[in-house]
Amino acid sequence: MAARIASRTGVANTTMLGLGVYRPERVVTNDDIAGPIDSSDEWIRTRSGIQTRRFAADGETPVTMAIEAGRRALDASGIAPEQIGCVIVATSSRMVLGPAASAQVATALGMNDTAGFDLAAGCSGFGHALSVGSDMVRAGTASHVLVIGVERLTDLLDPTDRTTAFIFADGAGAVVVGPSDEVGIGPVAWGSDGTQWAAIRQDKPFDQYFAEVAEQGSATVRPFIRMEGTAVFRWAASFLEKACRAAVDNAGLTMEDLDVFVPHQANLRITDVLVRVLKLPEKCVVATDIIETGNTSAASIPLAMEQVLRNGQAKPGDTALLMGFGAGLAYAGQVVKLPSLGE
Ligand code: UT7
Repeated sequence: MAARIASRTGVANTTMLGLGVYRPERVVTNDDIAGPIDSSDEWIRTRSGIQTRRFAADGETPVTMAIEAGRRALDASGIAPEQIGCVIVATSSRMVLGPAASAQVATALGMNDTAGFDLAAGCSGFGHALSVGSDMVRAGTASHVLVIGVERLTDLLDPTDRTTAFIFADGAGAVVVGPSDEVGIGPVAWGSDGTQWAAIRQDKPFDQYFAEVAEQGSATVRPFIRMEGTAVFRWAASFLEKACRAAVDNAGLTMEDLDVFVPHQANLRITDVLVRVLKLPEKCVVATDIIETGNTSAASIPLAMEQVLRNGQAKPGDTALLMGFGAGLAYAGQVVKLPSLGE
């Protein structure tokens, strides 16, 4: 008789059991960065909503920030490191291609022989990682998954680029995903559009850069992150309504059921457009962490969840729509129950 391979089954429902974040120490104002881009505090506030952002210091690396956020998420959830079956680190701004940050993060948090991998999906990285982590728990692949979004975008920023220098910033956020009695993480709505791959991109591949260095010496310009701001804005303002409605439909809910809306903190004007077209109910709290934190790509959604919980606008268990979007152009979002911040 042919050998039959055993399979595993997991649990019916998952949720985010705890949330932890890491915000770099240094607060950077608009005035601090306006000079090289010939801009002003007023222009940046009006066009993006941003008033301050955090820039990481030398010792605040993607790995150290991910470890700290992960440690706080474990504390908030009451889950021990040995209960974590997998660590997923969503990031698109590490300056090393390998090994993955996840192995170092897992070991630093006291885990031993724990699976882990990094996931690159730009600003929708957290939504992708949350979906994958939740599916792992539902499938029985891991009993608990630590999902982290971390970016140190300042390493990719050209301080003289008027489209990116004032938007992007650094930080980390993490959640522990585990089993629950009721559905705490709804089915994901996600997708991508490769025809718009150039809308947010690294402008020069590393092999091209190294060839230039070999030919011209070190005077050549290094790779930076670039963005076609208007194209991204247009896509976000026109397409994302459909993505948000799909996530709410997938959860079997309507906009009226939402207590909180946590979009990727890309630009406050994009958030305003989405709130308007989705006709969110008056009672729905809208996360606006971009004002203080800037756009931290894969870290922005957990950071924004933390802000609404910390300042008392929302509470654990509230029903929230998360929607990440950006480079790809890609998006990933789901309706969730907000996690606890712990003590
Ligand atoms: O997280 C990934 C997803 N990313 C996003 O969602 C970003 C989406 N895009 C945006 O947020 C916006 O396109 C930006 C905030 C990047 C730019 O805002 P905008 O309203 O699209 O500006 P614009 O490029 O259309 O430029 C408007 C004006 C121009 O001047 P004129 O031609 O009207 O006289 C620009 O020269 O603003 C000028 N300008 C600036 N002025 C001061 C452009 N950049 C700057 C600047 N400071 N940094």
